[in-house]
Amino acid sequence: MRVLLVGSGGREHALAWKLSQSLQVSAIYVAPGNGGTATLAKTQNVATAAEDVDGLAELAARQRIDLTVVGPEAPLVAGLVDALHAAGLAAFGPTQAAAQIEGSKVFAKRFMQETGIPTGRAEIFRDAAAAAAYVESLDDLPVIKASGLAAGKGVILPESKAEALAALRAILVERQFGEAGDAVLIEERLSGPEVSVLAFCDGESARIMPAAQDHKRVMDGDRGPNTGGMGAFAPSPLATPALIEQVEREVLLPAVRGLAARGAPYVGVLYAGMILTAGGPKTLEFNCRFGDPETQAILPLLESDLLEVMLACVEGRLARIQLRWSDAAALAIVLASGGYPGKYATGLPIRGVERAEAQGCAIFHAGTAVREGVLQTAGGRVLAVSTTGADLSEAAERAYAGAAEIEFEGCHYRRDIGRTAQHEAGAP
Ligand code: GLY
Repeated sequence: MRVLLVGSGGREHALAWKLSQSLQVSAIYVAPGNGGTATLAKTQNVATAAEDVDGLAELAARQRIDLTVVGPEAPLVAGLVDALHAAGLAAFGPTQAAAQIEGSKVFAKRFMQETGIPTGRAEIFRDAAAAAAYVESLDDLPVIKASGLAAGKGVILPESKAEALAALRAILVERQFGEAGDAVLIEERLSGPEVSVLAFCDGESARIMPAAQDHKRVMDGDRGPNTGGMGAFAPSPLATPALIEQVEREVLLPAVRGLAARGAPYVGVLYAGMILTAGGPKTLEFNCRFGDPETQAILPLLESDLLEVMLACVEGRLARIQLRWSDAAALAIVLASGGYPGKYATGLPIRGVERAEAQGCAIFHAGTAVREGVLQTAGGRVLAVSTTGADLSEAAERAYAGAAEIEFEGCHYRRDIGRTAQHEAGAP
């Protein structure tokens, strides 16, 4: 089978790595891919942007693609799966209507309220003056969320009322996020550890993956600014069988059934961002895709053929397949450019990847490029060193040994990935 994989991050490299292990897969085109996806067996990068819906649909038709797998949320929310379906092509990912669960926080919050999915209280505003008056009336500081996709910057945790009012102005008046700021949610601020519960979905049923935790802050001990994710591990020790059963029963199955009832059956990966509050687990958000960097820690645990699982989702027979997961633990450490998440240089040579691989680590590239045969940095989060172990501490020991082999100027990474069950109170 010929696969088109859309995206260019560490998540997509991990997806390409796992898909390339399938005996059924003959070729994987990655659009646009990165320095890592360029080098895998069966893969080749194609210079079509992940947001170019028409270009991707044309590419899939021209290359006689059997299955398109969409990594990031933006093309899903923009309707890539609908465009592929219109061309008679199969796709793993939700349609535009179903992807609203991530693409519109207003839709997601109303949906959760209507279907009884546990979540924080929130009010929705389009008018800046009404939103400001509401913030003034609150006893506690809220979370402010732009409704649409805002490249991970649309969730604001103000430290004061003044900051909250400034955030409202930035979104609703100055339109810093464009159309994504047509509406805001002003939401109660919840506290507790966060767990990412992802499930494969076929429109009717959901099969849960090992729950993961990611590390959003740049520095050890959950200090410093938020990032796109500095590492992840799975399974989370917080995700007891009872918790997983509760999230399946109260969150994921109602979401899948609720979307089907609204005429938008959900096919793909549904990601429930859960916060474990004193009052029970609450849903912070849904994402319409695999997590990044959670995928780099979850897929090494999947023993089944990923292509088979994705086809079962697309063909509506997920409940009938065997899904095998390893009993091991997996952990991924993100190596970042000097200065990230602020300004950073690119084009710096990377050494030691082969040495880390020789130690049994999988190296998932994110911000890398190969120029004149030399692997170089090309982004803030450069790559992830991922490996498994009998338990989390063994996985961590192996992954840190692999990370120590890799060098580029300014390279930094957290030294405490997986060391504690994370409690990132207030992190979006
Ligand atoms: N790790 C957070 C996300 O993928 O949205």
